[in-house]
Amino acid sequence: MKQENLVLTGFMGSGKTSVGVKLSYRLRIPVEDTDKLIERREGCSVSDIFRDKGEDYFRQTETELLRELAASDTVRIYSVGGGTPVRKENRELLKKLGLVVYLRVRPETVYERLKGDDTRPLLQCADPLGKIRELMQERKAAYEEAADMILDVDAMTLEQIQDSILMRVIGR
Ligand code: S3P
Repeated sequence: MKQENLVLTGFMGSGKTSVGVKLSYRLRIPVEDTDKLIERREGCSVSDIFRDKGEDYFRQTETELLRELAASDTVRIYSVGGGTPVRKENRELLKKLGLVVYLRVRPETVYERLKGDDTRPLLQCADPLGKIRELMQERKAAYEEAADMILDVDAMTLEQIQDSILMRVIGR
């Protein structure tokens, strides 16, 4: 594999974390989750940040972190938050960071996967499926613009996703 970071993007519940961990074992490259890096830095959960400091603060922290990561020369697999590609500056930073793989999912898949999850502040509402549809529609163009590779992952197993990415990254 050429020494380039791999960046996994996609909506909440698209499988970025699981795919990142799997690829990390396979490629022997450490995986980092930007939400986790923010939580460590802030000393509290993403939900707490949204509640206590607001979404704008979270987004600013996310952009600052991306700037730092893009300036670093370590090789990593990065799994980034579902809202990361929305800001134009972030899309540019993601491109700078490495090969961006967008794990695309349908709203119904996300809804089924995240039913009962209380760690995504944006989905704690009366109509989570409606909210998922709305956010996805708003973000569609941003996700696609930021991506070097798009995979429709609804019906794919983790192995199939891994193999598709490896084909692109190392040509086998
Ligand atoms: C968000 C997605 C979350 C997290 C935050 C906001 C979003 O990350 O960054 O709750 O705006 O879609 P995951 O995609 O890892 O759940």
